[in-house]
Amino acid sequence: MKKIQISPSILSADFSQLGNEIKRLEEGGADMIHVDVMDGHFVPNLTIGPPVIKSLKKNSKLIFDVHLMISPVHKYIEAYSDAGADIITIHPEATKDLGSSILKIKNLKKKVGVSLNPATQIDIITDFLKDIDLVLIMSVNPGFGGQKFMPDVLKKIKDLKRIQSERKIDFDIEIDGGINFDNCKSAIEAGANILVSGTTIFKSNNGDIKKNIELLKSK
Ligand code: DX5
Ligand code: ZN
Repeated sequence: MKKIQISPSILSADFSQLGNEIKRLEEGGADMIHVDVMDGHFVPNLTIGPPVIKSLKKNSKLIFDVHLMISPVHKYIEAYSDAGADIITIHPEATKDLGSSILKIKNLKKKVGVSLNPATQIDIITDFLKDIDLVLIMSVNPGFGGQKFMPDVLKKIKDLKRIQSERKIDFDIEIDGGINFDNCKSAIEAGANILVSGTTIFKSNNGDIKKNIELLKSK
């Protein structure tokens, strides 16, 4: 089994203190940071873009796990790569040609992530899996932090694990949305090896990030 990694979502951080919040994540043992980019069109919320990511990246050694919830995504991939994204995750519905968007990310020497909304089935990516480094399974409808975990999506993780062993291919499986101390075990048991978490990391136990990361890993 792969080592479990935690990718805290800065969506739940104090945006007036972002640089310090990322330092707290580094000190607390985060394996990477999850940056939710929203455009108010693909999802009904707006967050941050390349200039903010670029400033944050300058002051951090952490892996930047950038989740693009923007459409059309293709023409913006390079800007996020230049800003310092290490993993660039896109949604299949946000691009006309998933294959060429994957190739674009690969050519920029970044890790390729593809995300599936709760209602999106894995068929849409099965032909591309050999070129994908990470599949991000959404366990809420994207747009907002603090939503309720949807356990039905765990079946997709189990299906992906089966495909991995049938085809002898490897990619990370990340889960995003509503992860807490009660459901993290079921996500790991299903086969997820990266857990995204915003609310639980920043708000539980009076915001004790180190403790919350350790708890998520130890369940
Ligand atoms: C949802 C985002 C998530 C989410 C995680 O659209 O992709 O990263 O905010 O936050 P919690 O852990 O609060 O659900
Ligand atoms: Zn996300």
